[in-house]
Formats: sequence, C-alpha cells, structure tokens
Amino acid sequence: MPAVVVLGAQWGDEGKGKATDQLGARTDIVVKFNGGNNAGHTVVINGEKYALHLLPSGILSPGVVPVIGNGVVVDIDVLFQEIDAIEARGHDTSSLVVSSAAHVIAPYNRTLDKVTERFLGKRRIGTTGRGIGPAYSDKINRVGIRVQDLFDEKILTEKIEGALDQKNHLLVKVYNRRAITVDETLEDLLRHADRLKPLVGDTPLLLNTALDQGKTVVFEAGQATMLDIDHGTYPFVTSSSATAGGACTGSGVGPTRIDRVVAVAKAYTTRVGEGPFPTELLDADGEWLRQTGGEFGTTTGRPRRCGWYDAVVVRYASRINGLTDLVVTKLDVLTGKDKIPVAVAYDVNGRRFDEMPDDQSDFHHATPIYEYLDGWTEDISQAREFDDLPVNAQRYLLRLEEISGARISSIGVGPGREATIIRHELLS
Ligand code: GDP
Ligand code: IMO
Ligand code: MG
Repeated sequence: MPAVVVLGAQWGDEGKGKATDQLGARTDIVVKFNGGNNAGHTVVINGEKYALHLLPSGILSPGVVPVIGNGVVVDIDVLFQEIDAIEARGHDTSSLVVSSAAHVIAPYNRTLDKVTERFLGKRRIGTTGRGIGPAYSDKINRVGIRVQDLFDEKILTEKIEGALDQKNHLLVKVYNRRAITVDETLEDLLRHADRLKPLVGDTPLLLNTALDQGKTVVFEAGQATMLDIDHGTYPFVTSSSATAGGACTGSGVGPTRIDRVVAVAKAYTTRVGEGPFPTELLDADGEWLRQTGGEFGTTTGRPRRCGWYDAVVVRYASRINGLTDLVVTKLDVLTGKDKIPVAVAYDVNGRRFDEMPDDQSDFHHATPIYEYLDGWTEDISQAREFDDLPVNAQRYLLRLEEISGARISSIGVGPGREATIIRHELLS
C-alpha cells in the first residue's frame, strides 16, 4: 500500500485538489504538509464545486482521515470557517487531525504581510496577504507560535510578548502603524482554542503507524515547485517547501517510506502574483487561455497570468522532485487551437539553455524556444480512454511526455471528478 505525494509542477493551481480528491476513494489518510490558506484547491463532484484552502482535499471522501501536518501554518479562524462551510454542505469533518507542532498565523502576521507588500511597492511579491510569509519567518526565527502553545496560556502570553516586542518596533517606527497589544492577540488566538483542542494530535506518529499497518497515505502539497522557497523563482515564491522533500519534513515521514511522487501540470502554464514567467502571453492568446480555462484565483480571485506549456519548467520539477508520474490537466482548454506552441528550451541573449538556468538573471531574460504542435477541434470532455482522444491530442501528450521527464499517468479533460483519463494507476 503506497505513500504517494501529489504536488504542483508549475506555479500553482495545476489541479492538485482534483487529483488528490480522485485518489480519495482508495485512500486512508490525506495529509497537507506545507502552506496555509494561501492555497485554493477546487474539487468538483457531481457538478458541485468546493474550494478548499486549509482542509486537505481528501475531506470530501467519506472514510478518509484528513490531516493538517506540522509543515502547515494554520489560521485558526479560517480553519473553522472552512469546517463549518463544509459541514453545512453535508460533509463530515470530525476525523480531522491537526498537528500539535504546526505553527499558527497570528493577527500581526497578517498585518505585516500586507504592510510589507505595500512598502515594497514595485518590488512586491504579490502575496495572498494571508500572513503566510511572516508566519514562516517567525518559525525560522524561533519566535513562532505552535498549535500546542494555545493550550498553555502562560507560555502563549510569553511567546506573544516576545514576538510583539520586535514587531511593534517595526510596525510603529518603520511602517507608521499602530502597535498591536498582547491582549488582542491572545483574544484572537484563543477564540477557538476549546474547539481546536480535541482535533490536535501527534500526526507523525499517526502517519507512520498508518504506514506500518499498510494503509494508503496521500501527501497533498500546497503551491508548487516554482513557488518553493528553495527551488522556485526566488524571491517570487511562497515561504514553504512545496516540493517532495517538504512532504517529509512537513509531515514527519521519512523519504524511504515514500513510494510515488506525482506532479500535476496544466497542459499550458499559469502564474498568480509577480515574478518571471518565460512563456507568458500578454496578447489575445493569453486572454483566450484565461477565459477558456477560467483562470481566476481560487483564493484571491485575481486573474491568473497565462502562457503556453513550458517543458523546461516541468523537466526541472521532474528532477527536483524525483517524479514517478505526471498528471496533465486542462487538456480540454486547448481544444480549438490550430497550432499549440510548447517551450522546449530558452534563449538567453543568444545562448541556448536546454535546462533551467541556474542564475536568476538568466531566467528573467529567458525567451522560449517553441515547438509548434498540431491542435484539434473535437470536443474531448467526454473522453475516458487515451484512445478516445483525437490523434493530435494524443500526439500532443506523447510529445509532452517525451520532453517533460516523467510518464503521463492521468489526463484531465474537465473539472469534474469523472472527467479524467487514467493511463497508469497512481495507487498500485
Ligand atoms: P490547485 O490549487 O492545484 O488545486 O488548482 P485550482 O483548484 O486552484 O485550479 C485548478 C482549476 O482547474 C479549478 O477550477 C479546477 O476545477 C479546474 N480543473 C482541474 N482539472 C481540470 C481539467 O482537466 N479541465 C478543466 N477544464 N478544468 C480543470
Ligand atoms: P495553490 O495551492 C498559485 C503565490 C502568490 C504569490 C506568492 C507568495 O492553490 O496552488 P504567499 O501568500 O504564499 O506568500 O504568496 O505565491 N501563491 C500561489 N499561486 N497557487 C497557490 O496555491 C499559491 N499560493 C501562493 O500569488 O505570488
Ligand atoms: Mg489553487
């Protein structure tokens, strides 16, 4: 019985939520291991749409134990809003387990995220404003607040005092904002403490025991390889480890226990926020992808930047994550294009790069070298077998497979759970 990591190969929003949900029926546990409510994962079941932020996508499959791992940063208010919304739609969330070692997002983290972005001006990252970066900074600076701290008011007060000591200097003297008090922070963080307490557990023990018993565990990433703090387009990244290694540190499960690493990639590319994006289209084709693909952020509603498939990026993701499988989503969106460009390499000031440039400036100046593949016009949304696809769609996928560094195991032809072609089972 496998331990399978599901992560993003590009800049996020590849369809990780759908891919994770699909494994739900045959999964015992789904654990989120990084990020927080910057993520927005959409799952469509029988035409009903769910947008999940903190809860793992497995929550929509009866019998699956959803886990929020130690690598996640938790906004407790958002967590309970999400739980209430899902419960109101008839889903049972009572088996959710939250790691006692996960960090919480304090109100001053949210404030600092927003004022820092404003202060950066044109150098801003374009964050989701949810306090993610500041919460992870506190974790690394060793002034963070963990879930377990909420159950000891004395320790919690001391930690908040320590954190605010530094932050109020910054807020008042640098950013010209009002100081935040210990009391208001305590009130905010303790609002749901009694409700949270029974959900909290030793999640590394839970996960490792489940694997010992032969159970199936899916590790669901937020964000994606190109937004990873180490391997992404730094500094235009998120603040957590969204790659395969993060699945281990963010859950407390060792790398020897992971059986499969699956990356989800769109049949084209999108990005939200600032930062380099070589295949970005600022023309009518970009607008066409945005409208046809419904490319507007699940979390912030921002229009996503759109461009063609970038095989250099996905090959890089294959390498960084040690991929075993690729899930290619939104193939249906490309229907109707006569020729579909695919980036196979970059040109940087006259120099050809077949692999991701190591130097950030080179990546900022990279222009794609395209190969032009033949398109198709037939509606493919009902295809359920590879052979149901028009021959040019098959050729498109086979070419992507050749240049992307991993086999394509599953293909998305629509947002619904059922709109999928399986070539290789991910849980065998
Ligand atoms: P995530 O953050 O990686 O989970 O992805 P998002 O949910 O933010 O964005 C993916 C969007 O594409 C969602 O609206 C999904 O419902 C939708 N989607 C996923 N797979 C497919 C697919 O194969 N075809 C189409 N048309 N939409 C898809
Ligand atoms: P899912 O899980 C797409 C982007 C933000 C910004 C950068 C840093 O749905 O794929 P942050 O708030 O994390 O400090 O913002 O990262 N970003 C995402 N883009 N999908 C996401 O999540 C993202 N989470 C963060 O837009 O550029
Ligand atoms: Mg998303």
